Amino acid sequence: MADLDALIERFDVDDLAFIADPYPVLGELREATPVFWNERSNQWVLTRFADVHETLRHRGLGRAYTHLFTHAELGRSEPDPRWADFHQHEAWSLLCLEPPDHTRLRRLVAKVFTPRAVAALRPDIEGYSQELLDSCRRLGTFDLLADYAQPYSVAVICSMLGVPRSDTQLLLDWSHAIVKMYELSTTDEVRAAANRAAGEYIEYTRDLIAGKRRNPDGLLVSELVRVEDEGDTLTEDEIVSTTMVLLEAGHEATVNTLGNGVRALMKHPGEWARLVAGEVDARTAIEELLRWDAPLQLFERWVLEPGVEIAGQKFEVGDEVVMLFGAAERDPRRFDDPDRFDVGRGDTAHIGFGGGIHFCVGAPLARQELAVSLEGLVAQFPDLTLAEEPAYHPTFVIRGLERLLVSC
Ligand code: HEM
Repeated sequence: MADLDALIERFDVDDLAFIADPYPVLGELREATPVFWNERSNQWVLTRFADVHETLRHRGLGRAYTHLFTHAELGRSEPDPRWADFHQHEAWSLLCLEPPDHTRLRRLVAKVFTPRAVAALRPDIEGYSQELLDSCRRLGTFDLLADYAQPYSVAVICSMLGVPRSDTQLLLDWSHAIVKMYELSTTDEVRAAANRAAGEYIEYTRDLIAGKRRNPDGLLVSELVRVEDEGDTLTEDEIVSTTMVLLEAGHEATVNTLGNGVRALMKHPGEWARLVAGEVDARTAIEELLRWDAPLQLFERWVLEPGVEIAGQKFEVGDEVVMLFGAAERDPRRFDDPDRFDVGRGDTAHIGFGGGIHFCVGAPLARQELAVSLEGLVAQFPDLTLAEEPAYHPTFVIRGLERLLVSC
C-alpha cells in the first residue's frame, strides 16, 4: 500500500517532468492497480483499457449531472459567476449534455456533419495542406505546429463552418484561451482570459448566425440554422455552443495528434522510412499516432446512478471517475507490445476518439485531415528531421508540444 501511495504521489499533473514523459508512471500505475483514489483531485482514476472502454459506454455515468441533480445535491459548488460567459458558451455543448438533450442535439448535428460533408471538403483540405507545405519548404526549417498544423486545422474547420478565412486567427486565439479552463489546475488570471474569450466568441457567433440567416451558403453554420428534425430546430444558444465545441474539440486535438505523431516518427526513423518507402500508408499510420502518444490524456465522468461498479470498485452517486487514456492505450492486456511504436499496427479500435454516446462527431474529419497531412509530409519531405529537441507544453489533459522545429 505504501508503494502504491508513493506511486500515486508521482501521478502529479502539474509536474513538468511527469508531463514530459508520463508513460513510465502511467504504466506502473496501470500494472499496480486498475483503479485508485486521487486525494489531490478527489476523483477515482481508472487505468486499464477494458475498464475505460466500459466506462465510456456505461449509462450509469455521464459527462454532466445537472439534468438530474442540483450542484448542492451532489455536494458541488455552484458555477463561479465570474466565469458566466464561459459557462454560457458551453451550456449547449454536446460535451456538456446527457440524454434526452444530448440525443436531440446530436441527431440534429449529425444530420449536418455527415461523412458526405466531410468528403466534400477533401479538395479544400488538400489545397490548404499544399499551400502551407509550400511555404514550409521555402522556410527550410519550420515549426510544424505554428507554421503548418495550427493554420491548417483552423482553416479546415472554418471552411467547413463557413467562417471567413480572414477571421480564422480570431477564432484560433479564442479557442486557445478558452480550452485552458479545462486543465485540472488553472489560475484565476487564465480563467479570466478564458471567460473574456468566450464572451467575445459568443458575440461573434451571434453576428455570424444573423448573417447566415440573411445569406445562407449551405455550409455548416448555415445548415445548423436551417436543420430540422420532425419539427425540431436548433436555438441560437445551441448553435453558438455547437460551433464552439466543433472548433475547440476539433482544433487542438488534431494539431496535437500531428505534433506528437511527427515527433514520434522523427524519434523512430525506421517507422518514418516505412512510410516513405510506401510499405505503410498514412491512413494506417495515423491510428498508431493517436494511440501511442494520446493528444487527450484524460476524460471525466460523473456517477449518476446507485450500484455502479467498475474494476471491482463500487461507486456512489456523485463520485467523479477519471479515465486515463494514456495508460489505457498502452495496456498490454489489449495491445501486443504496447510501448512499441508500430505505424503498421493498423488497430482502429483504440479509444482515441472515445466510445458510446459521446463518440467523437469529428472522427471522420480528423482522420481525413491527419491522413492528408501525413501523406503530404511523407511525399514532399522524405528527409524530414528534427531541428531541435521538442518540449511538451506544461499541460497534461490536452497534451502537445510547445513547438516542433523540423528541417526539410
Ligand atoms: C485527432 C483529433 C481528435 C481527437 C483525438 C478527438 C477525440 C475525441 C474524444 C475522445 C471524444 C469523446 C469525449 C468523451 O467521451 O468524453 C470526442 C468528442 C467530440 N469530438 Fe473529437 N476528437 C478529434 C477531432 C475532432 C474534430 C476534428 C471535431 C470536429 C470538427 C471533433 C468534435 C467532437 C465533438 C463535437 C465531440 C462531442 C461529441 C458528443 O459529446 O456527442 N473532434 N473527441
